[in-house]
Amino acid sequence: MLKFGIIGFGFMGQTHAKTIETLDYAELLAVCDTNALQFKEASDPILTFLKADELLAVPEINTVIIAVPNHLHLEMVKKAAEAGKDIICEKPAAMNAAEFSEMMQITQAANVRFTIHHQRRWDKDFCIAKEIYQSQTLGKIFTVKNSLYGFNGNMHDWHIYPEFGGGMLYDWGVHLIDQMLTMLSPSRLTSVYADVQNVINKNVDDYFSIMLRFDNGVTGQVELGTYMLSEKEHWFERHWFIGGNKGSAVIDGFDPQGAITRTSELLQSVSGKVTMTPAGPTRSFGPPPEGRIISEPLPKVHVNHEMFFDNYYCFVQGEEELAVKPNQIFFLMKVLDAIRVSAETKQAVALA
Ligand SMILES: NC(=O)c1ccc[n+]([C@@H]2O[C@H](COP(=O)([O-])OP(=O)(O)OC[C@H]3O[C@@H](n4cnc5c(N)ncnc54)[C@H](O)[C@@H]3O)[C@@H](O)[C@H]2O)c1
Repeated sequence: MLKFGIIGFGFMGQTHAKTIETLDYAELLAVCDTNALQFKEASDPILTFLKADELLAVPEINTVIIAVPNHLHLEMVKKAAEAGKDIICEKPAAMNAAEFSEMMQITQAANVRFTIHHQRRWDKDFCIAKEIYQSQTLGKIFTVKNSLYGFNGNMHDWHIYPEFGGGMLYDWGVHLIDQMLTMLSPSRLTSVYADVQNVINKNVDDYFSIMLRFDNGVTGQVELGTYMLSEKEHWFERHWFIGGNKGSAVIDGFDPQGAITRTSELLQSVSGKVTMTPAGPTRSFGPPPEGRIISEPLPKVHVNHEMFFDNYYCFVQGEEELAVKPNQIFFLMKVLDAIRVSAETKQAVALA
């Protein structure tokens, strides 16, 4: 049985508490938050503490979830490891790769289990995109694009302070990059080129566009903006595009809609017919002739975020490999560091 204590009982801590209630192999024993007002969301008979050390002193707790703001992750990982507890830490695991390396050393030395809550590896749209990519039905892939747009520029609470690990790169960015690395694995990321901007937030990033080059020739493109206005339905959600030489896939929205699309005849064997468009005549960008485009439905996937915990529990039981491995997250942290260097220097940065 996983017997949990949660440190940091805000938005994510409370989300974890609700998830744990649904898991038959887990139980929540205690929560801790420096703000006692958060405890009104705690259900009886859970213990509540104002200090992490007090929660960590409860001997029955075997696993700690760390859900405090990002700059406190290292401190809490140290304390929890010293107390001999297994650790699930929220993303972004650390403020940078050096901090994460310290966390890895500490948890290894203390001989405690350590993983990061990257539950978005079980997002439905991502799993559909991954299945299409890995099935090789699109032929040789040249690009994978993933974008996420919001409409009000909203950054809130500690997320507006860089010293607390605020900004969108740490928030959703780390998920989007992790998804790209997971999907393209075992291909190796060789370089990143990043444009990171503060559009309407003074102190933290709220827009980024990142190119990730992989050693199999695929370019990953990740774009996020919290202030990208449009009247199009589902614009303010996620979009995937996967392009290969035998077809394309479009996956749109949090409730993913889209299709795999192919041509009945390869472009190279089509004559350069001139089409008149409102933008003038074109031989390459007119609409395809009737009947040339063939559509197939997206594959069905059955996933949910609880699968992160299912995997962790099976790992503890010795039945499965840990899905979110510390060495993968160390590389992810190195990629985030490289993205910051690239944004500052306006140069591509190679990954070792
Ligand atoms: N995996 C995801 O999808 C996801 C989603 C949202 C947030 N997160 C992560 O979860 C973590 C928390 O984010 P949040 O949105 O829940 O923030 P939040 O502000 O809603 O909650 C953080 C809580 O930590 C408490 N806290 C601060 N210092 C503390 C301390 N020293 N000891 C104990 N409690 C302390 C605060 O009082 C607050 O209640 C962050 O690392 C964030 O990146 C992950």
